[in-house]
Amino acid sequence: MTVSVSAGLLDQIKQHGAIPRHVAIIMDGNGRWARGRMLPRPLGHRSGMKAVREVVEGAIEAGVEVLSLFAFSQENWQRPAGEVSALMSLLEEYIQKEADELEEQGVRVCMLGELDRLTPPAFAAVDRVMKQTAHNTKLRLNLFISYGARAEITRAARLLAEDVAAGRITPAQVDDAALEAKLFTAGCPDPDVLIRTSGEQRISNFLLWQVAYTELVISDVLWPDFGRRELYQAIAEYQNRDRRFGRVSS
Ligand code: FPP
Repeated sequence: MTVSVSAGLLDQIKQHGAIPRHVAIIMDGNGRWARGRMLPRPLGHRSGMKAVREVVEGAIEAGVEVLSLFAFSQENWQRPAGEVSALMSLLEEYIQKEADELEEQGVRVCMLGELDRLTPPAFAAVDRVMKQTAHNTKLRLNLFISYGARAEITRAARLLAEDVAAGRITPAQVDDAALEAKLFTAGCPDPDVLIRTSGEQRISNFLLWQVAYTELVISDVLWPDFGRRELYQAIAEYQNRDRRFGRVSS
């Protein structure tokens, strides 16, 4: 990829239509990328970290407000112990290396998921970067770690049930907005576009509530090869969609 190709694409998408406010990505294909090079899987994840850096920069340049990345699912805890610990170390390394840069770029980092399952050093790193960047407003980077959408919705329902049981709200006040306010993503607009890399066509328990009217874009590129150009291509594809939200075209 050359800078000029992605710069040309960036001009195109800026002129062509609205830039999505919220882009969500299921980063997939690190393992296949490594296998194709006869490398161990953790090296695929390490290369995936570089793609994260490039996509964050690309999102800022395009003017995206929220970037949500699915980094580690609750199901991923079932992977071999060596891979899980490599991913935890990579998370710590990412924060250690990138925190100051993210701060300078004006990125607010939010880690969303069942964070109490993280190793203590990973949790400490997560906590530190969230506090350090809490005041930033240029881009909100949601990193989903130990996350599953069904568990997120179940948790929201439990919190509402507790509010009802304590008399803070009545059952009649349990509506879409009340449930949304209990999700990890409370306060974020719903994703306009959900990108999945590596050609797989599944949602895989990511943001099930929030993607009700999100445009799905599948990229055949494996995550470590995904960069600005592929992000802008996905945004261009999104801009060509006719979003009706269940209504008829205008
Ligand atoms: C899916 O590829 C990717 C993951 C489970 C991990 C995603 C992690 C990163 C991109 C790097 C770390 C990122 C941060 C923010 C620290 P896969 O292993 O399922 O690939 P496969 O389907 O080809 O096996």
